Formats: sequence, C-alpha cells, structure tokens
Amino acid sequence: KKNMLDYVSEKVQDESRQGEAFAPFANDPQVYKKKFYIESYGCQMNFADSEIVAAILNETGFGATRNAEEADLVLLNTCSIREKAEQTVRNRLTTFKQIKDARPGMLIGVLGCMAERLKSKFLEEEKLVDMVVGPDAYRTLPGLIEEAETGQKAVNVLLSREETYADISPVRLDSNGVTAFVSIMRGCNNMCAFCVVPFTRGRERSRDAESIVRECTDLFNSGYKEVTLLGQNVDSYYFVDEAKDATITFAKLLEKVALISPLLRVRFSTSHPKDITDDVLYTMAKYENICKYIHLPVQSGSTRILQLMNRTYTREWYMAKVDRIKEIMPDCGISSDIIAGFCTETEEDHADTLSMMDYAKYDMSYMFFYSERPGTLAARRYKDDVPEAVKKRRLQEIVEKQNKLSQESYRKDVGNTYKVLIEGNSKKSDKDWMGRSSQNKVVVFPKGDHQLNKGDYVMVTVHSSTQATLLGTITN
Ligand code: 5AD
Ligand code: SF4
Repeated sequence: KKNMLDYVSEKVQDESRQGEAFAPFANDPQVYKKKFYIESYGCQMNFADSEIVAAILNETGFGATRNAEEADLVLLNTCSIREKAEQTVRNRLTTFKQIKDARPGMLIGVLGCMAERLKSKFLEEEKLVDMVVGPDAYRTLPGLIEEAETGQKAVNVLLSREETYADISPVRLDSNGVTAFVSIMRGCNNMCAFCVVPFTRGRERSRDAESIVRECTDLFNSGYKEVTLLGQNVDSYYFVDEAKDATITFAKLLEKVALISPLLRVRFSTSHPKDITDDVLYTMAKYENICKYIHLPVQSGSTRILQLMNRTYTREWYMAKVDRIKEIMPDCGISSDIIAGFCTETEEDHADTLSMMDYAKYDMSYMFFYSERPGTLAARRYKDDVPEAVKKRRLQEIVEKQNKLSQESYRKDVGNTYKVLIEGNSKKSDKDWMGRSSQNKVVVFPKGDHQLNKGDYVMVTVHSSTQATLLGTITN
C-alpha cells in the first residue's frame, strides 16, 4: 500500500497515483464513536487541508479509517485543475454509491475545489452526495454533518478573505515522521488565464507568521526534520504583525523557520517567477538548511503565449530569473510546470517551449496538455483551438525532452557527495535507505553496518543514476 508521502513527494499531478485512503493511527473506540474515511486528490495544498479536516473531525468524535466500507462518513477532497481530475472523482463517487447502497446511513461529502466550482449543482447532478463543502468552510463541518444526518443536503461553499486555519493543529495522516507540509497562505490573486484556482480557492491571504513558526517548531520537537511551506504562490506571502509593528515577507518567514534549528530542513512550493525576489534567493543561499531547490513553473516558453496566459513575464525575463538563481546558488535545482497546446499555440511557440527547457535544464517537470476550465479567463476570451491530437503530440515531445534533461541532470551528479536526509526504507528493499538531497533528488543507498535511522542526515557519494534516482554509498 502506498502512503501519502509517495503521492505528494513524487508526482502529485499524476492523477493515476492519487486518491488512496490514509489514516493516522489505530483509533480508540472510546474516544471516537464514529469513523471517517478520506481520499485526497490534486495538489499538496489539498493533502494539507485533509490533515486540517482530520483534526476538526477528531474533535467532533470521528476517528479515521482506511476502509471505506466501515466508515460512517466518506469524504473526497477534490481537484478541478483539469477535466481529467474531475472525471476521476466522478468515477470514485460511482464506486461509493455501491457501498452506500449496502450502508444507507453512510454520509458522502465532497470537499475542495470541485465542491467550490460546482456548488449545489453537485447535489443535483450526483444524487448520492450528502454534503458539499468548499475549501474555506471546513470549520463548519460538525454542523454540516449534523444537518446531513437528519437527511438534509448540507452545503457550505462560502469563500473567505481571512480563513487560514492558523489555530488548528493538523493531524498528520500516514506520515513518515520525518517530512511534513505546513500551509502558510491560501488562495491566489494571480489570474493566470488557464487556471481555475482563483475561483475555487478565492483571494490570497497569508497565515499569521507566529503560528507558522510555532507549528514548525512543534514538528521539529516531535522528531520531524523537514518542513515544506505550502501556498499557491508562496513568494507573495505578506503578513503584518500589528502587535509587533512588523511586516513579514516570504524571505523573512523563510529565515524565521530556518532559524528554528540547523537540523530542520526547509522547502517551499510553489513560486511564481514574477514574485521570487533576490531577497528570497539570498536568504536561501545564506542558510544551509534551506534546500537548494525551486519549483519555478514556466508554463510556456513563448512570450506571446505567456502574455495570453497572463503570466506577466516574458521569455527573456524568465531566462534572466533562471540566470539569477544559478548566479546566487550555482547548485540550485529547478523544476517546472509546462502546458502544451494552449489557445492559439503555433509550432513556433511550441519550439520556444522546447528551447526554454534546454535553457533552464529542468531537473524535473510536471507536464500537461491544456484543458479548458469553465469560467476561467481563457474559457471566456479565447477559443480552445489546438486540436487534441496536436496537443498530445506536442506534450509527447515535451515529455521526451524532459526525460533527456532529467537523465542528464542525474548523470551529472555521479561522483558527487550529497548530504541526504533519510526518509525511510527504499521502495524496493528494506536493506536500502531512501532519502533526498538538498536539490530534492531521491537518493537510494545500502544501509550496510551503519547504525542509522530515518530522520538522520548522512553523506552519500553517488556512483550511478537513473532518470529519477541517484544510487550511492555512505561516505564518512
Ligand atoms: N490545463 C492544463 N494544465 C493546467 N494547469 C493549471 N490549469 C491547467 C489547465 N487548465 C497546470 C499548470 C499549473 C499546474 C498546477 O497545473 O501548469 O502550474
Ligand atoms: Fe487542484 Fe488547484 Fe484546487 Fe489544488 S488548488 S486542488 S491543484 S484545483
């Protein structure tokens, strides 16, 4: 059985791997009279939200189960980013209908972006859904459950300008005990033309810096060694601490978290190229424990397409940003998101994307073909005019290009020694450890006679590589 970490740390966007259930611990039937089952889809933010939902449900007397068939409450935390993501959820709902037929008292709730996008339409379309709860309404879950228990359909899809769930301590679901996600902001104000997120997650708001530092400190004190600060656009984090008369930018926040302990690694995701400042880059360079890795989605390599996408940077501007990163941190890893076949994209635009990939030498990319989402700027303004076969062919070329770049990037590391944080056994053998380098590359190496544990740091010299793994041996 895969655990949550497998999804979030590897290919979150790969829908085929998503949606497995997870549960934190054996439940005490004295404390938890009822059971909930939750599946998550989509981005890391959604996985983090499910941990907040779990905390709220624990408070309400629901314990988690991995088995939907024994659950009183089944929740799907959904994603709307592409049509395929929504289709996956619809298919799951059909499966749950069968379980519900056998257990009529069971409640089914849809959470997250699809709930927000479809609102009460969901109740009409998918007759088996009892609750529809948007991403800013999780605090009202106890009341909504009560309502649904009386046979009414319960809906809350109100978006908020303030909600950050700052005071809720997430219940870590299926955690490896080493790495954790910490949400630092919610929503998005960017209005990229293709993207549904501003509509499903609402306006951008930053979480109280002190509550973030507290959560990270608590994690470190309970044995965690790595936190990933999460937001749709972390670089526009901005918090005004009125009590202290201070403003906290993302660079400042990064520093505060890095200062908790040199033994706590700090990562973050996702950065919008327009917002990542020199300040952030210098802060990264200054602290060894801030990982040298930036996910910097380019989306397209063509200035004309970037303009239509409303990304607010040009090809040249993005290239200069890549140069700047490498100048300040020559060893920094960079990855990307790329969309093939956006409205009006020509072969020339597509060639620009391929050459941009060569320029940035991405270690890894998430690659998609364009999927029109109702209500977005692009859906309202432009025709989705690139034929599907063309989109798929271009995507294939992008994937092949990335495979070569990844191969090259991993091959280049052979012979080098990296500090690796051990996350657990390797997938293939419990005689091998699996961990990550600062650059976020997976490193696998034999345990040998060394007395090491997960959560330890170890120096590993790489002797060979595949497209997505470095193989090495421990060096002293
Ligand atoms: N079609 C295809 N890909 C999309 N993404 C966002 N919206 C769409 C869409 N409508 C991709 C972007 C984004 C990533 C999370 O998903 O590349 O960065
Ligand atoms: Fe999916 Fe985007 Fe919502 Fe995350 S924010 S769940 S990626 S639609």
